[in-house]
Parts: sequence; structure tokens; C-alpha cells
Amino acid sequence: MTPVLELSSVSRSFPGSRALTDVSLSIDAGEIRALLGENGAGKSTLIRIVTGAIAADSGSVRIAGKELRRPTPRAAQRLGVRAIYQERQIAADLTVAENVYLEAPPRNRWGAATRHAAIGKAEALLKALGIDLDPAADAGVLTAAQQQLVELARAVSARAALVIMDEPTASLHPYEVATLFRVVRRLQAEGTAVLYVSHHLDEVFEIADRATVLRNGAHIADVDIRAGGHGEQPATGTRSRPATTREELVTLMFGHEVNRTRLARSTAGRGPALRATDVLLGRARTPVNVTVQYGEVLALSGGSGSGASELAALLAGVAPPRSGEVRFVDAASLDAASLDATSSPASSHVARRHGNEGINLHDRARAASSGVAYLPSNRKRDGLLLERSIVENLMLVPRRGAAHVFYWPAAVRRAAQQAVADGNVKAGDVSQRVMTLSGGNQQKVILARWMLGGSRIMVLDEPTAGIDVSAKFEIYRRLLDLAADGLAVVIVSSDYEEIACVADRVLLMRDGIVTAELDGEHSSAEELYQREMAGAA
Ligand SMILES: Nc1ncnc2c1ncn2[C@@H]1O[C@H](COP(=O)(O)OP(=O)(O)OP(=O)(O)O)[C@@H](O)[C@H]1O
Ligand SMILES: [Mg+2]
Repeated sequence: MTPVLELSSVSRSFPGSRALTDVSLSIDAGEIRALLGENGAGKSTLIRIVTGAIAADSGSVRIAGKELRRPTPRAAQRLGVRAIYQERQIAADLTVAENVYLEAPPRNRWGAATRHAAIGKAEALLKALGIDLDPAADAGVLTAAQQQLVELARAVSARAALVIMDEPTASLHPYEVATLFRVVRRLQAEGTAVLYVSHHLDEVFEIADRATVLRNGAHIADVDIRAGGHGEQPATGTRSRPATTREELVTLMFGHEVNRTRLARSTAGRGPALRATDVLLGRARTPVNVTVQYGEVLALSGGSGSGASELAALLAGVAPPRSGEVRFVDAASLDAASLDATSSPASSHVARRHGNEGINLHDRARAASSGVAYLPSNRKRDGLLLERSIVENLMLVPRRGAAHVFYWPAAVRRAAQQAVADGNVKAGDVSQRVMTLSGGNQQKVILARWMLGGSRIMVLDEPTAGIDVSAKFEIYRRLLDLAADGLAVVIVSSDYEEIACVADRVLLMRDGIVTAELDGEHSSAEELYQREMAGAA
């Protein structure tokens, strides 16, 4: 059988770095192959070569037996390659059906490409794939997860030979991932090969037949994930016994083991930092009340539409809530407030004014100047100046209207160098432009910036999206240190292991309301998963 994808001795360098060295691999029809490696290992570079976005310096790429000689995205597409990225390729003003058939719109019997023709055809396809979406709905209003399903349907409609997914689940919630995987298995059943990049090893064990591990741009190993070859699933629907272990994969990826011991917690609660009162989220009619304490890590868990990201944005003062209010309590005024009982009536009045009620947060500039850091979920748009260097991005202080860059050569550089070293950012040096960093390393730059920043409160939406499992644990350690120093930390996370590792408290959210509050320290990832899947059913 001709492999669907065959790379022979592919190498590629960039100015200042060698991203791939002599990589060979081959994927069969109907195989789901995971591509693994630490941040900067060369995964996205390999994918960009296969999709024709960039050319290899040497070596060859064959797709379904045909060589990709002059690589362009069109040439790769013509050979049957489709890629799905985190940033969705969706025309927001068209219907679901038109998006499915974006490349080749179906025609009616008079030869005209009509919306009606597309809807009719898409209905059957979506049904066959088990995708529960209205083909006539506007694609723009779909959640990120749903848009991704539309993209998969598009790949099927184009009869893709190879579908590539570069960290497709980085911002998906587990029950959204379950839907995605159902569709991926249908693709597999059709004979489509899938190349799947992920830092979530539990997903790899769930979906992949084999894994290819890259380290420092070199091919380290091909490993069977499942005994008994790919595509053969037991009739019961349970997957066959894995042929390897998580530890083995991790050791191949990093060249050493990664310790996953549970980290020690700070002691909770040192007084309120943020208080959201009667805020309404999404289309919910029931208000949410949340208080975040100094010294605690609060996790908000829930997929798109759950209100978790929206609540985080409100807590960070991005916009005033639709109803209710968000107040920030200065840590300094807490000391005054705690003197309340013993102090004179006059000073307790002052303390009450500043301490107990706090400042109304309704714009980001005010929140930022109060010491509330915010990492939004859309990094590329909101988080980084891609054209600028690492050092400039680290010194970036978001302000009203514009982003100001403070340049203070020696001291800033030293701090940046330290931050780069601490955060394990893989870069030539701190003047390297951020756009030339791998995805995970860009994420580390944003986090390093906030960790440098002297904030009192951190609101982080999916802080470790795209970050490899080794660096993740470094970040968890840092977050717990910050909380131990008295900072209030709020994370939005779809990673139960992450929540179990760092959260003191967990709010499970759905449809704009808080469905449960759990004690993070005593909730395992497995328990969180069971709990939310039960709620989703
Ligand atoms: N345009 C570029 N200019 C310079 N260096 C680049 C460029 N693109 C990628 N690199 C470098 O190539 C190496 C591999 O990057 P790549 O994006 O392939 O990593 P990755 O395995 O996808 O990592 P991640 O898990 O963080 O996404 C990195 O060291 C990166 O800095
Ligand atoms: Mg990448």
C-alpha cells in the first residue's frame, strides 16, 4: 500500500536555528498518527512543510505517492492535504453549509451555486459524520469547537487524503474533545490519514494509533500507541490495551523523566481581592456571585459558552458586566480593614470606603493600573506584538488606547534574559522576534511578562495552552509560589490535571451559571472529569 504521507530526510533551517534535521516518516491510509515533542521541537515546521506553507531545504515530501515538488499551499491541497489550526478558517457571514463547501460550492440543476443547494448537501454529510449542527445556521455564531467540526466536514467533502491538526484541542473542553474525536474516527473509517499534534498525552492515548517523537528537530522514535495495529477497534468500543506508557513517551520527548508529583498548596484565603456581585453571563438569567481571595488559586472550568472565559474577562475589568458589578479590593487597604475593630470610628470609616467596598472595575486600564494582570484566550490578537522582540514584549505594558513599550536597555535586558531562562523559552536570544518562536514559546513569553509585572491579581485564560508537559509543571510551581506570596490567581482551564495541580477552589460552569463549587486540593483530575461529564449528559 502506498503511504498517504512519506517524508524522506527532510531538513529545514531558519536564520539562527535548525528546526528539522533529516526527518523521515511515513503514514498509511486510515492511520491516526500523533506528532509529539517539546516546545520548539519542530512539529509545526514539519506541518508547514507538508501543507506547502514553507519548503524544506533538502529531502522530499510525497503525498499519496506523488512528490510535492514545488511546495505551495495549493499544490499540497491538490494532492489531498487539509490542515485545521487553532485559528479557525471560517467565513463568519456564510452559513454552516456554505462553509462546508467553501472550496467547491454544490450547484443546483441549472448549474448555479446556491445556498439552497449547499444546505441540502451539507445536511446529509453532517448527519453521516454525526455532527449535530444546523446547516442553515450562520457559521459566525458557532462556538470555536463547532467551527472546528465544520472544518472537519469541509475536509471530508474535499475527500482529503491527509488531515493535519496542529493542537486542535488547546482551547477545547473535554466534552467538546469527545465530539471532535468521534468525528476524527469517522474520518479514519473513510480511510483518511490524520496527523495530530498535541501536548495532551491522555488524548494521544485515546485517539492515536502510533506516535512520532521529535526532539530538537530530529526524529527520535515511532512508537505504537496501541497493540494490534491501527484502525482495528474492538467491537465493544473500548480501545485495545496501550502498547506504551505515558512515562515512556515523556522520556522520549524530553530525554528525561518529568516528575508529576502533586505540588504543595499555599494556605487559602487572606481576604477578598475581587468580588463579582450579581453579574449575568451569556444568556443566563441567574446571576453569579464570586469572591476571589488573596493567596488562593481559583479555577473556572467549563467549555465555550459556559461563561468561564467571560467571567474571567469581567474579573480582569475588560468591560463592565451586563448587570451587577465587579469590585477590586486593594491588598493594602485590607490591612487597614483588619484594624477596623480596634481603630477609631473615623479610620474605620475610611477602611470601609476603600477596603470593604473596593474600586469598581469596569475598564481594563483601571484594572491594569490597580495591579490586575490579564491573559486573554486569544493570544495572537490581544497578547503579543509578533513583530517585536522578546525583550520588547516582556516590557510591554498595556495601557488605554495604545500599547506602550518602555525601553530601558541594560536593566530590562537583564530582567528579560532572566525571564527567558526561568520560563525555559527556547530562543536564540532576547532580541529574537516573537513571531519566529514556536507556539509554546510565545505563550511562555506572555506568561513571563505577567510574572515580571508585580501584579497583585492574575487572571489567566488557559495559561498553559500549547505548552509542553515539562514546562507546564514549572508554570504550576510558579503560580503556586505567587499564591503563597499572597497574590490572587484566577485561571480558566479545560485541563483537569492542571486544575487538580494548582487550584484551591474550582467553579464548574455551564450556560453562564456556576453549577458546582469544589475544593481543588481534594479533587483529582478523574473526579473533575466524571463530575463534568455527568453534568454534560
Ligand atoms: N520563521 C522562523 N524564523 C526563525 N526561527 C523559526 C521560525 N519558525 C520556526 N523557527 C524555529 O524553529 C524551531 C521549531 O519551531 P516549531 O514551531 O516547529 O516548534 P513546535 O514543535 O511546533 O513547538 P510548539 O510545541 O511550541 O508549538 C524553534 O526553535 C523556532 O524558534
Ligand atoms: Mg507548534
